[in-house]
Formats: sequence, C-alpha cells, structure tokens
Amino acid sequence: MKLDRKEILKALETITIAGEGKNMVESGAVANVITFGDEVVVDLVLHTPAMHIKKRAEDDIKKTIHDLISPDAKVKVNIKVEAKENPNEIKGKAIPGIKNIIAVASGKGGVGKSTVTANLAVTLAKMGFKVGILDADIYGPSMPIMFDVENEKPISITVDGKSKMKPIESYEIKILSIGFFTAPSQAVIWRGPMAAKALNQMIFDADWGELDFMLLDLPPGTGDIHLSIMQSLPITGAVVVSTPQAVALADAKKGVAMFMQDNINVPVLGIIENMAYFTPEELPENKYYIFGQEGAKNLAADLDVPFLGEVPIVQSIREAGDYGRPAALQTASVIETVFEEITRNVVQETVNRNENLPATEAIKITTMAGCSAVKK
Ligand SMILES: Nc1ncnc2c1ncn2[C@@H]1O[C@H](COP(=O)(O)OP(=O)(O)OP(=O)(O)O)[C@@H](O)[C@H]1O
Ligand SMILES: [Mg+2]
Repeated sequence: MKLDRKEILKALETITIAGEGKNMVESGAVANVITFGDEVVVDLVLHTPAMHIKKRAEDDIKKTIHDLISPDAKVKVNIKVEAKENPNEIKGKAIPGIKNIIAVASGKGGVGKSTVTANLAVTLAKMGFKVGILDADIYGPSMPIMFDVENEKPISITVDGKSKMKPIESYEIKILSIGFFTAPSQAVIWRGPMAAKALNQMIFDADWGELDFMLLDLPPGTGDIHLSIMQSLPITGAVVVSTPQAVALADAKKGVAMFMQDNINVPVLGIIENMAYFTPEELPENKYYIFGQEGAKNLAADLDVPFLGEVPIVQSIREAGDYGRPAALQTASVIETVFEEITRNVVQETVNRNENLPATEAIKITTMAGCSAVKK
C-alpha cells in the first residue's frame, strides 16, 4: 500500500481543533505531512498546552486517516506546542527564583482546599523542596490560622534599593496572606482586578527568595476573581480538590473546565479526593464512605486528568488545622503517609507538565500603583 500525501491533507481538512475556528490544515496547525509506503507522519504545531486538546487532535488524526484513507495506515503524530504571540502580553517575565506556581482550587467551598494546600506544603518541604504559600482567598484567608501565625504582620525590607514585603515563615514555609493585612473580623469584598493587583504585589513585590513551589490557595468558585488571577499570574498548573459528593463533583468539573478554557489554558495537574471516607484513627482499616465512594476518582477518569490520591476524613486533620500545625507534620501517622503519596504524584505531574509543555510565562502584569498592603 502506498499512501498519498495530498489525499491525507484532504482528509485532515475535515478536522477542527478546539478553539481554532478553521480546520487544522487551513489554520496552519499541520506543519508537515510525510508518507513512506504505508506509514504517515503528521507534524502538528498547537498553540495550547492543554493535554486534552493535544490528545484529541492526535486521536482525531488517527481515526480520520484510518476511516477515510486506509485502516492499515501506520500513523504517527508529532505535536509541538508553541506559545501564541499576543501583543498584550509581557513575555518572558516569569518570576525570578520561583520555579513552579501551583494553584489549588475547587468549585465548591469548604471541600478542603486550604487543608490540602497546607499539608502539601509541609510535605514538599519535608521532601527537601523550598516552598511558599500565597493565600489568595480574599473572602476567607485560612493560612494564618492553619500555620499559627495569625497575629504576625509582614515587615517591609529593602532589597537592591527596593522595598519588599517579607513573607512570614512557619514550619519552613514562607507565607503571605491577605489575612495578614486585614483585621480577622473585617470582611474583604474585592472585585477581580483589585484582588489580582494585591496578589500581584504579594508575588512580585515580596522577597520570596528561591522557591521550588509556590502554592496558591484560591477562594472557592469559578468567578471573576479566578479569571483575574489566572490571567495575571504565570500558573504552572492547577490541582482541583473535591469531595466524592455529587454537588462537589459538579462544581469541581466546572473548576477543571475553567482552567482548560481556551483563553486560560492552565494545565490541570490532577484531582485530589478529600474526605474520601471516614476512618477512626485507632481503626485505620475501617472505612466509611460518608459522601459516596470514589466520586472524584471517577470524575478524573471522565475528564481524562490524573487522579492524585485520596485524603480520608480524620479528626486530627481538622484539629491540626485549627491548632495551627498541619497534620502531615505528625511523623509516622496515617496522614503523613497519605500526603506523601499525593505529594509525590503532584511533583511527578509537575515534572511531566514541564517536560511536555512550554515554560511558564507571566501573561500580564497589572500595575501595583495605589496598592499599599505592606506595613511600613
Ligand atoms: N480530610 C479532612 N478530615 C477532617 N477534616 C477536614 C478534612 N479536610 C478538611 N477538613 C476540615 O473541613 C473544614 C473545611 O476545610 P478547608 O478550610 O480546608 O476547606 P476550603 O475548601 O479551603 O474552604 P473554603 O472554600 O472556605 O476556602 C475545615 O474545618 C477543615 O479542618
Ligand atoms: Mg480555603
């Protein structure tokens, strides 16, 4: 059998890539098609780092060639991702010293984002990584309490002639939170751009030093504020937390969809199932599936994103959060083991992401003028 290049190009014209109006040949995504006998190699250049779009493009190409040309064709697809030029973006402005920014999100509130963030952070630090947390929950910042630094106030220091905010340190984690700048009783009602401005300042005008991971504890939901944050910070990837309950899963799905949206394109590193089952600490082999079983795991499979692991409901997790010492610090505990496994998966997915996708870019840096959150 001898494949014909022109026929293949014609077949590829029937495929459209999500987010690009034209078919893949017209849009310029097909960079090259080479045929050798019964083999064909299709080189594709995509502008989106989203895994699911890459995978779908590859599957569509294979299926189309098999259906329209020959079921015996040996099809190979090479995909290269190139960042799209956008005149509104300031490029190459990744934050010096910060290697990975990971957003921890959920759709629904109260499913355990902050608890997961705190425990991931201390576990990463135990593994030897340098870690920071940016508490971006402007509605209800939790990190000051979870790390027992509620009454701390970041000071301003001078670095290279510039005044910078110094993060508060607790259990080897550097932390900045909107909570440090507002009275505990004061509700902060900010619109997206304003919140993004304050968060920008806590990232760009703070002395974080070298960090392997910065974890971003997001507020619940998928609103305006999230869009502003995603568009203004160079997020490496997102971790979505959900309980196995149907209402939480529906919102988690929206959360994943938000990151995958064309104009956002933040890779989803995976889903963590929190409150997966109740386990009495003295009987760790007894599991009670209070909120349903494996809902988040199934959702991950449905959405074709990695499942990063499950965290049981354990009283000590809640107590540790309230007491101000993340539970994963408890050596030789079930929780330590649970978080070690999840954290390893998060690191692995981050490595995969960085190997397969273009480096993180700062997309847009909003001006810091008029925002003075630093205590002078
Ligand atoms: N696995 C768990 N076992 C026991 N308690 C938990 C667990 N995960 C979270 N909690 C408790 O549930 C409550 C909500 O958790 P958390 O504040 O982390 O959720 P959240 O998603 O950050 O909430 P919000 O949407 O308000 O930011 C807290 O009291 C926390 O201690
Ligand atoms: Mg929270």
